[in-house]
Amino acid sequence: MATFDDIEIRRPALAESYLALLAAQPGRPLALFAPRRVGKTYFLDHDLAPAAQTVGILPVYADLWLHKSAPLEALNHALEESLDDLSVPGSRVGRLAKTPVRKLGGLGVSVELGEVPDRRSLPEAPGLRLDALATRIVKQGGKVLLMLDEVQTLADAADGETLIATLRAVLHKRRADIAAVFTGSSREGLARLMSAAGAPMYQFAQMLDFPVLGEEFLAMLAKHFAKVHPGKSLELAALQEAFQRIGYKPALMRDIVKGMSAEGLTDVGQGVAHFLASDSQRAIWAALVAPLDTFERGVLLAIAQGRPPLGRETLAALPVHGGKPTVSRVRTAIDRLRRAGLVSKSAAGLLVDDPLFAEFLLGSGKT
Ligand SMILES: Nc1ncnc2c1ncn2[C@@H]1O[C@H](COP(=O)(O)OP(=O)(O)O)[C@@H](O)[C@H]1O
Ligand SMILES: [Mg+2]
Repeated sequence: MATFDDIEIRRPALAESYLALLAAQPGRPLALFAPRRVGKTYFLDHDLAPAAQTVGILPVYADLWLHKSAPLEALNHALEESLDDLSVPGSRVGRLAKTPVRKLGGLGVSVELGEVPDRRSLPEAPGLRLDALATRIVKQGGKVLLMLDEVQTLADAADGETLIATLRAVLHKRRADIAAVFTGSSREGLARLMSAAGAPMYQFAQMLDFPVLGEEFLAMLAKHFAKVHPGKSLELAALQEAFQRIGYKPALMRDIVKGMSAEGLTDVGQGVAHFLASDSQRAIWAALVAPLDTFERGVLLAIAQGRPPLGRETLAALPVHGGKPTVSRVRTAIDRLRRAGLVSKSAAGLLVDDPLFAEFLLGSGKT
């Protein structure tokens, strides 16, 4: 490997195990949960999609988080794009047989497709459109793997329950041909989503904890470090400890080791400390806090401090900003913080999602 940035871990075996699970339970999606930035999207893109393609399944990817306000439209759009790809002759191996080209212009400029089924226009209503698209794509593409990234977004959409019911119905109806993998960064969001689907969560999707990267990744970082700095080495145990502390985020870990490499540091604890104190990192966290008002910042800090945000003492200590701190105002603030992905609910109560961000909040005291 040439640089730290080239270090990557591929997980084909994990991808195959998911495909096998899907094949064993048609109509039942897998819901992979892991916090933000641990590598879910990377896995879908680099491991799961290629594994599906290898066995003749067409992967269709939609990032629902990117289109929070219209998640179903985002999914439909992804399906339409895949359909477009399928309809262009020669764009994919084997498609020509299903969509014979009737006429090719002399210079190849005018291409007319033959026997494209269902040329009727698609329904406008997103729910019906999803079903129609699913039908078409199966007709043309054969088996499909729908990858819905950050699917908990559906639970927050205005007509979330209808969306989920629609999705569920379509996945059930097309279970012979369409499999689905969901990812979610919020366990609570996923749970909310599944219960909104009107049945116990486990009946709809199989919830799985998406595994974080292991020692192999850290060993590769250490190996490259030793190559760049002959005679110096990083302790694997210390790397592991740091990796855990930062919440198993590979890109972050790589940045820390790059920083250490630039400074010639081998003490991992010190490397993490430098990273946390760096201007660039602090700027990132400051930007997360910036859109919040004083009251919301107070609630966020209380959560970082592990204080019950609705407790009487916490309320009394909250900043008076635009009116008296009341339980309902705190609830509204929590809601906003949750939707922004800054805090989430766990068995232990509300938590700041990113442990390092929590450390930053605590360190900066009043933000
Ligand atoms: N298997 C991997 N090998 C190397 N780097 C990875 C791997 N998975 C994730 N990363 C790094 O971590 C970053 C965040 O991963 P991402 O998949 O976007 O997280 P998530 O989707 O869980 O929020 C990626 O941009 C990439 O730099
Ligand atoms: Mg992602």
